[in-house]
Amino acid sequence: MELSFAAPHAVGSGAWVVGALEGSVLTPAAQKADKAAGGALSRGLKVSKFTGKSGQILEILAPAALGVSRILLVGLGKGSEFDGNKAENLAASINGRLNTAGESEVTFEIDVPKGARIKPPALAAHLAMGAQLKSYTFNHYRTKNLDEYETKLKKVTIATGELGDVRKAWAKLEAIAGGMFFARDLVNEPPNVLSPAECGKRVKANLSKLGVKVEVLGEAEMKKLGMGSLLGVGQGSERESQLVVMQWNGSRKKSNEPIAFVGKGVCFDSGGLSLKTGPGMMGMKGDMGGAAAVIGTMQALAARKAKVNAVGVIGLVENMPDGKAQRPDDVVKSMSGQTIEVLNTDAEGRLVLADALTYTQRKFKPRFVIDLATLTGAIIMALGPEHAGLFSNDDKLSNRIIAAGKAVAEPVWRMPMGPNYDKLLRSKIADMKNIGGPNAGSIAAAQFLQRFVEDKRPWAHLDIAGVAWQDGEHKALMPTWGTGWGVRILNELVAENYED
Ligand code: BES
Ligand code: MN
Ligand code: ZN
Repeated sequence: MELSFAAPHAVGSGAWVVGALEGSVLTPAAQKADKAAGGALSRGLKVSKFTGKSGQILEILAPAALGVSRILLVGLGKGSEFDGNKAENLAASINGRLNTAGESEVTFEIDVPKGARIKPPALAAHLAMGAQLKSYTFNHYRTKNLDEYETKLKKVTIATGELGDVRKAWAKLEAIAGGMFFARDLVNEPPNVLSPAECGKRVKANLSKLGVKVEVLGEAEMKKLGMGSLLGVGQGSERESQLVVMQWNGSRKKSNEPIAFVGKGVCFDSGGLSLKTGPGMMGMKGDMGGAAAVIGTMQALAARKAKVNAVGVIGLVENMPDGKAQRPDDVVKSMSGQTIEVLNTDAEGRLVLADALTYTQRKFKPRFVIDLATLTGAIIMALGPEHAGLFSNDDKLSNRIIAAGKAVAEPVWRMPMGPNYDKLLRSKIADMKNIGGPNAGSIAAAQFLQRFVEDKRPWAHLDIAGVAWQDGEHKALMPTWGTGWGVRILNELVAENYED
């Protein structure tokens, strides 16, 4: 898809998109289009239910003399409620519709509604972001009927007055979209292709180019570090486990202690010897969604040269049940020194994260650490695909994460923690067991992770099992199974709070 910004001009071909506010109030561009079409929009309003509500569309096929193929009048809703999110959803839904219609070209000429909380350059950039996020496809493995799957829409133009400011705003969003696309690619990739080693290789290849320092540790190195918890998970797989360490040093104050992101990278989760059912195993290629979010975030930060020092650490493993596999009842020793009784080999994500968390804190002494993981089915029961679960020992960090999530439409919901939940992890023979009881599964998992937080460091855990991929209806800005969830909220958190 070719995306460009241009000063408003006579639209010559393709679809022309203009806006109306609630109450069918045509914006100036819409009035211009109406006039050009000989009043066809006004006539259309009289014979349709269109009222200008957000999301509504009135489409007319343009008279031949006009040059354009069609005009779409899109509802902007109440001017005071119109913002970047609304602009993105608008562009995405229009593009979806035009794609179905077989249109190849579109020009958006959306005026900032009166009273809106957005300025023209930002509006243009967010329209572009909506178009961009919607244009993502993953068709590498199709050999047939590509026509059906590839986007028809080839050329998207955003009409805007202030080109310089728009390009600056877009450069930032484009960096984020790039990070999201890489994260989506990794989540969508099948597990026979994306082994831990392959994932590490791709991260190194893509992120090194942007100035991110990438180190990949193998099993021998992890063994030396004492990572018995992570290694136990990968021990039933033919494929080698990896720890990938990414460093972006964008702060001008070189001594600045970094912030840290840690991701669960289970490239395939069969459950191990506590084997999942057939249906329960489907989609478990996406169990590295937390790692993908961390990778995509590091890419976005580097691509937009964020003025921050950030580290990303991901534990990449495959959870498989062979003769060398870890058994339920095994006891492993983590890098922290704490021992864990593994009563269910399907509660593997926390075992991976435990050592990744210890490594990250001891090596980098970060000012905070946030981990992301497709950790529990229980969080899907609780929150569905609408919110990720947030667990934290720190109110300030939590509130910043909640605000960032709201701002970029990746919302999170804070869940409770406490000593009574921690008791769920008491083991008969070791320091803890890796599962709780039948209830509060997501909280028990979070309590487990908190046992690996050192020095009262601010820590947050995002359980993204419900949002990293989508099996039902697709969200407007997330057109494929893998969503890339997490890149945007983390980038926003950094941009709003932690840059020089
Ligand atoms: N990767 C799964 C969690 C998951 C389940 C993500 C479904 C997305 C969809 C995780 O490793 C897991 O298996 N968790 C178990 C924990 C249980 C054994 C305590 C679960 O949620 O059932
Ligand atoms: Mn599991
Ligand atoms: Zn898992």
